[in-house]
Amino acid sequence: FESLHATLTRMQAEGYDVGIIPGDAEALRDAVLTGNAEMHGALANVHALIPTDDHVRREPHLAEIEAQWGAAPGREFTNGSSIFVLGKQFGNVLIAVQPGFGYEGDPMRLLFEKGFAPTHAFSAFYRYLREDFAADAVLHFGTHGALEFMPGKQVGLSDACWPERLIGDLPNMYLYAANNPSEGTIAKRRSTATLVSYLTPPVTQAGLYKGLSELKDTLDQWRSLSPNDPERAGLYELITAQAEQLDLAESLPVDDAEHAVQHLITAMHELESTLIPHGLHVAGQPMNEAERLEMLTLIAEADDADAPDPATLDKIVHNMPIETDDALALRLITINAQLQNNEELDGIITALDGRFVQPSPSGDLMRTPEMLPTGRNIHGFDPFSIPNAFASKDGARQAEKVLAKHIQTGGSVPETIAMVLWGTDNLKSAGGPIAQALSLMGARPRLDSYNRVCGAELIPLEELGRARIDVVMTLSGIFRDLLPMQASMLAEASYLAAIADEPDTQNFIRKHARAYADAHGVDIEEAAYRVFSNGEGAYGANVNYLIGSSAWTDDQEIGDTYTNRKGFAINRKGKTTKQESLLKDVLGHVDMAYQSLDSVELGVTTIDHYFDTLGGISKSASLAQNGDDIPIYISDQTQGEGKVRSLEEQVSLETRTRSLNPKWFEGMLEHGYEGVRQIEAQVSNTMGWSATTGQVQPWVYQELSETFVLDDAMRKRLADLNPASSARMVGRLIEASERDYWQPDAETLDALHSANEELEDRIEGVEA
Ligand code: BEZ
Ligand code: MG
Repeated sequence: FESLHATLTRMQAEGYDVGIIPGDAEALRDAVLTGNAEMHGALANVHALIPTDDHVRREPHLAEIEAQWGAAPGREFTNGSSIFVLGKQFGNVLIAVQPGFGYEGDPMRLLFEKGFAPTHAFSAFYRYLREDFAADAVLHFGTHGALEFMPGKQVGLSDACWPERLIGDLPNMYLYAANNPSEGTIAKRRSTATLVSYLTPPVTQAGLYKGLSELKDTLDQWRSLSPNDPERAGLYELITAQAEQLDLAESLPVDDAEHAVQHLITAMHELESTLIPHGLHVAGQPMNEAERLEMLTLIAEADDADAPDPATLDKIVHNMPIETDDALALRLITINAQLQNNEELDGIITALDGRFVQPSPSGDLMRTPEMLPTGRNIHGFDPFSIPNAFASKDGARQAEKVLAKHIQTGGSVPETIAMVLWGTDNLKSAGGPIAQALSLMGARPRLDSYNRVCGAELIPLEELGRARIDVVMTLSGIFRDLLPMQASMLAEASYLAAIADEPDTQNFIRKHARAYADAHGVDIEEAAYRVFSNGEGAYGANVNYLIGSSAWTDDQEIGDTYTNRKGFAINRKGKTTKQESLLKDVLGHVDMAYQSLDSVELGVTTIDHYFDTLGGISKSASLAQNGDDIPIYISDQTQGEGKVRSLEEQVSLETRTRSLNPKWFEGMLEHGYEGVRQIEAQVSNTMGWSATTGQVQPWVYQELSETFVLDDAMRKRLADLNPASSARMVGRLIEASERDYWQPDAETLDALHSANEELEDRIEGVEA
């Protein structure tokens, strides 16, 4: 809403009729989200009512919608006789609320393997914009909505495709995150959007707080003493007590104090130096000096060259002249200038004025500062070079690290690995994770005479030096759309391995594919399908929606939803067929699962997609193996050389550096309403990991409860800023205890229940 307020203000200055703009972001939010909502029993202010008769008469695809969602007006955004258009008009501008996919009201729909039609409300909404409000343009505001993910072809849409039917010839502009080229490309392809990029929040080191900084002090003290100083014994007792208090004691080596202390020092260092996003970005707002200093320092560190000293960086940030011909310093000067002059609102106006929005590279500011200035139309890049030579080399290294971690954690060399591949991580790293998959299978890209990637070839076993690992790869719908050639290349790799004349002990793909072919009477080609994704025009595993709705009772529902949605195999010719039982069979012998993490901004507990995909496949694999948990890893590529963590370690790290870290949550709470929503999302996504993997430690829920609910002042603060999100967060903590993900003591549980009642009264009070 701060961004929206800034946009309206700027539009007014440019001569657009925006009526009377509410005094501040909060008043704007109130006008849009509250307004007359309670009078209508709606989720937000009702701008218009579309009578069902009118909808039935005018909806050209009524039969298709009714086949999916029942008779008009359906169940979403309606009072039973009319469909709501939610939003608020200011002058010529309608700030409208896009309806959801519709799953929210009907979780059973999540099992559908393909998408079929938007809801009545969704179709009526866009018809209203086109024909009744007769908008000159639509500006979709922020990453991302549902329009471009509606059913239809992946590219080259026709009038039988829903995004095309909905947006028609309405100019579509989209304020979009500069770090998300993959989903941004979907918006461009499937909804003819002109993107206007915005910056993600500044990045900062997590730092230590409360008990963590006290422990660090004690560790420092311990270190300052000589090994045989008698004081060490006492300090060691204090250290273990402090570690215990912080739930850090469990994994401590018990053999000797020196070893344990070293372990803790390393852990403290990791917590302190982990990068986290700080606060939220507001469209058009430049970074302040402190934020720029931190960003420039990180950009300089990410660069291979010698970073300028702190004094020079300080001068750069303060725009003081420096004598230098150092290329990195000169670049930092440019970046600093660009960060002081945010052009996002200019970009929006340029688009609305019907002028040309400049194209721009995309990525993370730290690694791709060329994405500045934001306010431009981001693009991806040449898929023929994915994976490039660097990614291939690095991919092989990263894959070995994953294997090493698995073995170090007590596993044996895996025969089968489940890997989740997304578009974003591959676009940003020129195919790093794709190269990892190839490397595990003992394959590499095959290049044509123009040096373009055109398929896969096997690395001879002598050169590989280990067995070919069987890799089952599930691609996001976005990967499938953006990198079809790479999907076929991966399929070719598993095919070539399956037909290679090699011993089973050196080739697990061949071993498993032949066993499957024999058992099921299919040919080796089919038995070696290892690349899976959604059915055409469908995205996501829907496990996130299922868990988000709390409407599941049995783990099997999670597994079934996943395999139903992701059970489509892509072959080496790019052809897709439904192969759910093959997928289940392969998952039945998966030894471990993992996914790469590509951006600092989005951790595995920030968005619900990670547990949707990696959590979903882990649950399916576990169910296919009598419910036994399988090891899950995150290959964190966001800092330095990269680091592989178990999922449990990753969730703990994010909990400590983000959710429980005052630096993180105070940064969020500066943005009030939206900040509370982000905190709630962390809690909900954490529960998503418990539901899909069971690999979240109980202390996580206890500490979250203590920080956000049991602390009276904090609980009141959150409730004042955003009662609905606060209620959802408390509800999640209770749900987590009911599902036995943690066992709060009676006092904690009482406190949660009374907070829940307090919030519900408050929300009902508003509604009444
Ligand atoms: C992708 O880039 O493939 C992706 C992005 C966000 C959520 C899920 C997948
Ligand atoms: Mg998404």
